[in-house]
Amino acid sequence: MNTIVTDVIQKLISGHRLSIEEFKVLIDNNCEELRRELALKADSLRKNIFGNHIYIRGLIEFTNHCKNNCYYCGIRAGNGNIVRYRLSKEDILDCCKQGYSLGFRTFVLQGGEDSYYDDDRMEEIVSAIHSSFPDCAITLSLGERSYDSYLRLYKAGAERYLLREETSNEAHYKKLHPESMSFSNRMECLENLKEIGYQTGCGFMVGSPFQTTENIAQDLAFIQDFKPHMVGIGPYITHADTPFANMQNGTLEDTLLLISILRLINPRLLIPATTSLGTIHPLGREMGIKAGANVVMPNLSPISVRKKYMLYDNKICTGDESAECITCINTRMESIGYKVITDRGDFPFK
Ligand code: SAM
Ligand code: FES
Repeated sequence: MNTIVTDVIQKLISGHRLSIEEFKVLIDNNCEELRRELALKADSLRKNIFGNHIYIRGLIEFTNHCKNNCYYCGIRAGNGNIVRYRLSKEDILDCCKQGYSLGFRTFVLQGGEDSYYDDDRMEEIVSAIHSSFPDCAITLSLGERSYDSYLRLYKAGAERYLLREETSNEAHYKKLHPESMSFSNRMECLENLKEIGYQTGCGFMVGSPFQTTENIAQDLAFIQDFKPHMVGIGPYITHADTPFANMQNGTLEDTLLLISILRLINPRLLIPATTSLGTIHPLGREMGIKAGANVVMPNLSPISVRKKYMLYDNKICTGDESAECITCINTRMESIGYKVITDRGDFPFK
């Protein structure tokens, strides 16, 4: 590695902060040696705070209806080739009950932007989970809603919210989304979530169409300033029934490098080793953990709907074998020296 790269690494390790130009140096020089060095540092920083513990979140994909038409997403409104579904409050509570008995203490409700789940319905669902499982954290990932809606759901018992910015560059955002979607609104939603008091997660797809090195560096700089509690990144993977069907997938190598950089930006961050990372490579999630991730999100959705929440082609954990998700994750984590723990796994506030 040349001295410019070595200097940038030292600066990141000592100050947990870089300029956009410096982030670009790391991204442009991505190689095995650099990834190994950053992963070693990221892993040791993470171990200082979290030991070898890995948090699990039970993911409940409760609706694949969506009013949006993000060009990359398999459940976009314009995809007429999928069977749509919605889970009832009872279905969702059943998923939580099953998850609770398996040791989950965080439930993540994720879905498309589906107006059927208006504030009254969502509030009822969140309140029901909160009162049935008072020792569990509720995370929502429902896309963009109003300040008042976020506030109501927070008061009903949801404490965390995941909303990826997808890109922090407006011109790039416009290449990924139709005119009807607004970059500034997405950013405002993130600010609102944080202001209300949610543990807030942002993030982006690695290698999304038209993404440049500059865009990724801008995202890292945004994350530095926004100071989220969680950051979800995973490779972009193409879906045959979207306008981006012929685009290239993001890479394992870029995602691993970026996970390590995120850990070095903030050692306390909650960073999932995502399903898309496990889809791009059979051992992607294990490699993500070794690079600095500390969360996995096994699927708790009913087996009957899993294939219908197909965000991208070949998504893993959607077949019959997925009933065993948690056993599979435990074994995978133990095989690399980590331990899945049943804990709410909150952000470690100082
Ligand atoms: N509707 C909510 C929202 O917009 O935040 C949550 C659901 S959305 C499907 C969850 C995430 O899936 C998105 O933030 C996006 O980054 C990711 N995603 C969608 N399509 C993808 C693809 N083709 N490859 C990888 N990730 C994808
Ligand atoms: Fe709405 Fe993907 S387009 S969830």
